[in-house]
Amino acid sequence: MFRKGIGLDIGTTQTTVCSVEDGILLKEPTVAALDVDTNEVMEAGEAAIEMVNSSPDKMYLCWPVWDSVVKHAGVLAAVLRIFFRRAIGRTILRPQVMVAIPCDLTEAQSNAVEDAVLAAGASRVHLLEAPLCAALGAGLDFASPTGHFLVHVGASRTEAAMIFIGDMVTHMTVQTGGKQFDDAIIRYMRSKHRLYIGMRTAEQIKIRLTDLAADHEERKLDVKGRFVDTKVPRVVSLSSREMLGAVREPLSTVLDAIVSVVEQTGDDMRADIAGGGIVLTGGGVLTGMDQLLADVMGLRARVAANADTAVAEGAAIALERLGK
Ligand SMILES: Nc1ncnc2c1ncn2[C@@H]1O[C@H](COP(=O)(O)OP(=O)(O)OP(=O)(O)O)[C@@H](O)[C@H]1O
Ligand SMILES: [Mg+2]
Repeated sequence: MFRKGIGLDIGTTQTTVCSVEDGILLKEPTVAALDVDTNEVMEAGEAAIEMVNSSPDKMYLCWPVWDSVVKHAGVLAAVLRIFFRRAIGRTILRPQVMVAIPCDLTEAQSNAVEDAVLAAGASRVHLLEAPLCAALGAGLDFASPTGHFLVHVGASRTEAAMIFIGDMVTHMTVQTGGKQFDDAIIRYMRSKHRLYIGMRTAEQIKIRLTDLAADHEERKLDVKGRFVDTKVPRVVSLSSREMLGAVREPLSTVLDAIVSVVEQTGDDMRADIAGGGIVLTGGGVLTGMDQLLADVMGLRARVAANADTAVAEGAAIALERLGK
């Protein structure tokens, strides 16, 4: 290929840019800093957050993608333009881009993604469903005549797909991902401990304490919040065991989707995945999720080594294969 080919994953929280030759070129928050007077995009990614922190009266943040759907097309195009330049420099030929998209986007929503990537400076845009990208990026062999079972947990949704020789045979998307686990933790803290905590604290509890594996050693974490009745700050000691109860609702939604995909799959293919097992990808994969799935479903389950970048890496691989 004469043109640079890149794989792109535009997430609700993170955007990742990859190429087959150079690996991960960029991984930054999908966010822009806008001028309060002109609404012009001044920066993108980490630098945008820094810019707004240092001049909050002149700048504000805008997250152009929400629940994997483009909400501010112009802002997204400006963010991607900055990201492309940061990732690949100023190239004479505009890059060709493979974009991973969720399976449940409407045609208008996928068109909005395509238009934003073109407006950002791509010469040509291809779209591919995220579970296929994730499977390729996780190194699953599409040529082999065995089934693969891929579960991708993002910030705003979970996609479970049965893949057979490069095609999705059955799949299911639920709009429950990492953010819904954070929300469940906030609700639990309010009702059980009568404590208000913010989104960041909830996310930290999820990442540092929540563990879905029944046989892992119990851990503790002190968490600071404000007492609901008096608004006075107080510290509560939480255990990893109790967090399982806190996230029960989003967890059962995710498990339900995964089990439905297996139920929709024919017996022959079910035997296939027993060999390959379940592969988990996405930033929202909780500690112990692999073990819990293995226990519940009696299948092997593992988290991909590159779980949070597999989608973008797979998109880059898919683009390279198109060119051959
Ligand atoms: N170590 C961790 N354990 C559990 N969850 C984590 C961890 N690190 C990050 N997360 C969560 O992962 C989620 C982000 O995942 P990811 O980067 O795959 O989402 P995204 O691609 O931006 O969103 P989407 O694809 O849903 O639009 C957030 O909810 C974040 O809290
Ligand atoms: Mg994602």
